[in-house]
Amino acid sequence: MIVGIPKEMKNNENRVALTPGGAYELVKSGHQVIIEQNAGAASGFADEDYLETGAKILSTSDEIFAQAELIVKVKEPVESEFKKIRPGQTLFTYFHFAADRELTDAMLASGATCIAYETVQKSDRSLPLLTPMSEIAGRTSIQVGAAFLEKPQGGKGILLGGVPGVKPAKVLILGGGIVGTNAAKIAAGMGADVVICDISLPRLRYLEDTLPANVRTLMASEYNIRRELPQVDLVVGAVLVPGGKTPHLLTRSMLSLMEPGTVLVDVAIDQGGTFESSHATTHDEPTYVEEGVIHYCVGNIPGGLPRTSTVALTNATFPYVQALADNGWKKACGVCPELIPGLNMIDGKVTCKNVAAAWNLTYTEPALD
Ligand SMILES: NC(=O)c1ccc[n+]([C@@H]2O[C@H](COP(=O)([O-])OP(=O)(O)OC[C@H]3O[C@@H](n4cnc5c(N)ncnc54)[C@H](O)[C@@H]3O)[C@@H](O)[C@H]2O)c1
Repeated sequence: MIVGIPKEMKNNENRVALTPGGAYELVKSGHQVIIEQNAGAASGFADEDYLETGAKILSTSDEIFAQAELIVKVKEPVESEFKKIRPGQTLFTYFHFAADRELTDAMLASGATCIAYETVQKSDRSLPLLTPMSEIAGRTSIQVGAAFLEKPQGGKGILLGGVPGVKPAKVLILGGGIVGTNAAKIAAGMGADVVICDISLPRLRYLEDTLPANVRTLMASEYNIRRELPQVDLVVGAVLVPGGKTPHLLTRSMLSLMEPGTVLVDVAIDQGGTFESSHATTHDEPTYVEEGVIHYCVGNIPGGLPRTSTVALTNATFPYVQALADNGWKKACGVCPELIPGLNMIDGKVTCKNVAAAWNLTYTEPALD
């Protein structure tokens, strides 16, 4: 199969979808790998590293999209890429369709098969291709939150861990999955006073058992969240309904309950955001202020840390890339059943229930035989 790796187009998206090690394995198993010039440069991989594996370097993404049967990317296609995608082509990348109607319509019109990293799901309901990026985004959310709490950045001027004789900052984490847990670990390690909320009682029990003593758990209800807000310094949004739109746990009317200079980091912005007042921002301009509250809503946080993220992502995606290249998407779903929930669109039809529900579109069961 011809496997194509275009250079990422999103603002400050420095990751690449395949490492030279991955290219080596694909070429070894008889596939042709074509990579856009400089696609790996920001992740520390030179064109020569790919050439040594037997992969080919092409100078434009037009050539990659025109030739490849399987396109492997990191982030969803941007507008300039829409028209390059064609029927019969398989795209394997993050899509987050529920947050983007224009992308949804464009991919339906393309007739391509779209397999979304974020909805590939194992039988234990875990999301193996979201996990590594959620680990990175969760940990980073506290790093950036701490930086924006500094006065010159517009924050309250509070040190996350405090010092002897001065209370630490209070961090509220909404959603206790992978992002939330990783945020809690780092915030706790920095000495903050941490509260983590979830709607799942078993999850809260697990968090209570495994996280340090300066992390307390709380059932995610509007009443409980309202009561926390007047004392918080940093809030992390980390809720997920797989494939669906994120519920707004913090509404616009709740902003006034917080002190000016409080920082909100909405990691879940890629699925619509945990805060009603969130809108997507970029690494170039990561924040904006509404009612005195700093909002950080970068949708590709790991893109800013490509040396760590590319390797972490491809460690997880590569077995599926290999299965798709070896078998084509239909047979690959037999080899790796976790790809089935990843099927978001086939031949212009929506094959993911949550995406169909998000945009009131007709759901079609994917035909696998
Ligand atoms: N911005 C970025 O760069 C970036 C990077 C990685 C992940 N993400 C996003 O972060 C979000 C979280 O990802 P994750 O891997 O932690 O997901 P996850 O499935 O591991 O965790 C989500 C948690 O939300 C909880 N939840 C669901 N509905 C809730 C509600 N109404 N109230 C409270 N909790 C609720 C679930 O019980 C679960 O524990 C996703 O939207 C993901 O796409 C963004």
